[in-house]
Amino acid sequence: MQAIRIGICGFGTVGGGTFNVLQRNSNEIARRTGCPIVVEQIAMRRTNPNCNIGNTMTTDDIFEVANNATIAVLVELIGGHQPAMDLIMTAIKNGKHVVTANKALIAEHGNEIFAAARANNVIVSYEAAVAGGIPIIKTLREGLSANNINWLAGIINGTSNFILTQMRDHTRAFADVLQEAQQLGYAEADPTFDVEGIDAAHKLTILASLAFGIPLQFSKCYTEGISQITAEDVTNAEKLGYRIKHLGLTRRTPDGIELRVHPTLIPEKCLIANVHGVMNAVLANGDAVGSTLYYGAGAGAEPTASAVVADLVDVVRDLALDSDSRVPSLAFQQGALSDSPVLPMSQITTAFYLRMMVRERPGVLAQVTRILGERGISIEAIQQQEHHCEPVPVIILTRPAKEQFMNEAIVAIEALADIAGEVTRIRVEELDS
Ligand code: HSE
Repeated sequence: MQAIRIGICGFGTVGGGTFNVLQRNSNEIARRTGCPIVVEQIAMRRTNPNCNIGNTMTTDDIFEVANNATIAVLVELIGGHQPAMDLIMTAIKNGKHVVTANKALIAEHGNEIFAAARANNVIVSYEAAVAGGIPIIKTLREGLSANNINWLAGIINGTSNFILTQMRDHTRAFADVLQEAQQLGYAEADPTFDVEGIDAAHKLTILASLAFGIPLQFSKCYTEGISQITAEDVTNAEKLGYRIKHLGLTRRTPDGIELRVHPTLIPEKCLIANVHGVMNAVLANGDAVGSTLYYGAGAGAEPTASAVVADLVDVVRDLALDSDSRVPSLAFQQGALSDSPVLPMSQITTAFYLRMMVRERPGVLAQVTRILGERGISIEAIQQQEHHCEPVPVIILTRPAKEQFMNEAIVAIEALADIAGEVTRIRVEELDS
């Protein structure tokens, strides 16, 4: 059968991994597709020492690949917004299918990209954009398609998970571990994308659209990173039977969709609380299947290449189909997308962990509990910790309460004369069905 010719744009970690997997597993891949996949051209700024590309044609102009008439599929692995957006749109207009790992682009411009792909009867696939080697896009688009998805919770930024794991296991400070994560190559080019939650918010935005059939709405995702988490919070959580994880969480409620990324206390007995280091995991709860958990490497050359190449296999299998017969880009038919609103954070209900520094005066805790009680916030546990000097740390675990009331309570608590500094607030999720 005739070979399918592809072009790879971007030949760094993932580009090199993709090339190597395609070469090494070419026979097995051809048994699956029914025809060989041949790398016709690579656009690269520099050579990749991990790859032997032989006499494969190269260029330093990515648009040469998008305009190369022999190429059927363009693999976009340069990342970022521009020129990646122009590259993808050019390829689509030229009738090429696109495989991309670009989470920022899909989360922020996916609606436009998918519309262009439909208009030009081409496929845009993006399995590698979320959770690296875990086939979570395929799972949501196909494997769980019988279900009403209730909620999803994911550890979808390996760098944050690596940092939190190191802070817990070795009582290390945040900044120190971040530096190591950068040296190990886990972090994004701009590590604030990892530690301030933006990378996870891109990925969660995509997962929420696939789970609930809503348009991509990155700007509505509540985004909080781990940079304010202290080693003390990590230890306190441990003592209370929880772990702090940086979670992306999306849930269907009668009022709308929750879409939020933030540090979260989760019970240590949950499987997902035991996902350590740079690994990723996504817990998906559907009405028919119940809870299902997907675990694996969220980054790295070959785990991510595994997702890119799986997309290539799917594209080759679907070449003969038209847009209406293919699996829809966002899992639901275009005309059937829901206008369910994304809820503002103030309307979301969770339990809370609070840490505050309190002066040793009679009645201070009574004032704090009164403020919570007046706003209908019930206390699950309260603990004044041993401390050699004033002020002393006080930890409170609450029962579920609306964020809006907790915001008001925190303002009132911080205004008390005997509270020093700001109140730390971390949301708590039990992740039961
Ligand atoms: N910086 C990302 C992470 C890489 O740490 O998970 C994969 O998207």
